[in-house]
Amino acid sequence: MTDKLVITPWEIKGSVMGVDYEKLMKEFGADALNEQVLARMRKHTGQLHVLLRRKFFVSHRDLNWILDEFEKGNKFYIYTGRGPSGPMHLGHLLPFMLCKWLQDRFGAEMWIQMSDDEKFLVKPDMKLEDAQKWTEDNVLDIIALGFDPKKTHIFVDTKNAKTMYPQAVRVAKHLNLSTAKSVFGFTGETNVGIAFYTAMQSVLAFLPSALSGKQIPCLVPLGLDQDPHFRVCRDIMPKLGYHKPAVLHAKFLSGLGEGGKMSASLPNSAIYLIDSEKVVADKIKRHAFSGGQKTAEEQRKLGANPEIDVSYQWLQAFFEDDDERIKKIHEEYKSGKMLTSELKQILIDKVNAFLKNHQAEREKAKEKVDKFWWKD
Ligand code: TRP
Repeated sequence: MTDKLVITPWEIKGSVMGVDYEKLMKEFGADALNEQVLARMRKHTGQLHVLLRRKFFVSHRDLNWILDEFEKGNKFYIYTGRGPSGPMHLGHLLPFMLCKWLQDRFGAEMWIQMSDDEKFLVKPDMKLEDAQKWTEDNVLDIIALGFDPKKTHIFVDTKNAKTMYPQAVRVAKHLNLSTAKSVFGFTGETNVGIAFYTAMQSVLAFLPSALSGKQIPCLVPLGLDQDPHFRVCRDIMPKLGYHKPAVLHAKFLSGLGEGGKMSASLPNSAIYLIDSEKVVADKIKRHAFSGGQKTAEEQRKLGANPEIDVSYQWLQAFFEDDDERIKKIHEEYKSGKMLTSELKQILIDKVNAFLKNHQAEREKAKEKVDKFWWKD
């Protein structure tokens, strides 16, 4: 757990468990998703989504403004995206799940960006054709969540240039190299495409307003690593006559290994959405880092540490939706009444139930996908 945590939009390295989110929030200048703002949301939604109740979404920018506007009758839309560079894993899906819930509860439009250009530009070995292939694959996982085809629009950067490019250049004119360098750490070696990319990621934060001629508030649920793009975007929006998009920050779902370390080179550290029941069980049994003791006997005596236990953390973040039940699991595991193998089995069953349904919906998504693409 000695690895230093490195977070940029293109790299998350090190231990994601035990990240000091309070400190990050201060550094970023974001607000905690506190009881006051959550209670405001609850007034409109009824029971909050598990990812909000368990604080997997930790902080925000301007969520109160989004709710002010909503209460005045000015509905917001939701924007998020995916960089298609490979198969999606559970962690990638979590922000989209909150989006689906927000769409249902607030009747919101959903605008999704597939940034194939970004993945091509950033990853030295990625071919553009491959990023485009992963786009076709990844959208199935997104659609499988049940987004409303009438209210959901998917953009692909290299395919929807006719709509996106004229807006991107408007942003790019206000983004100078010194800002890009200081925010993202670019050097003289960075290719110019990457330096331009933030302009592309900013487009859907105002496109509905640009197209309709109205000011439509925008809410962006995202992983914390994406915040730098939106800090830049938020500075530029008023210069183009638009409101700043509001942002909801998700934590990182830890990888299975010790300290929640994540790395694309450790395929066993993540559960992919296409993994079979057997692979899921194997990965969790063999690779999920445990906060338990070495033997059952010791565990009964000393108890386990749920705070560093990946299986517990996954249940807590999302998979055990029942608040009473998760409290009970915490108590029993900590006291030694529950063994690691029992805890892992609970998680295996939850993940497999989730994936079974997801994989069936993913198949059905193949029939529906045409309704979602943005037509320039
Ligand atoms: N850059 C993101 C990634 O690498 C993908 C993305 C595009 C995105 N637009 C977004 C993420 C808007 C959050 C919000 O995965």
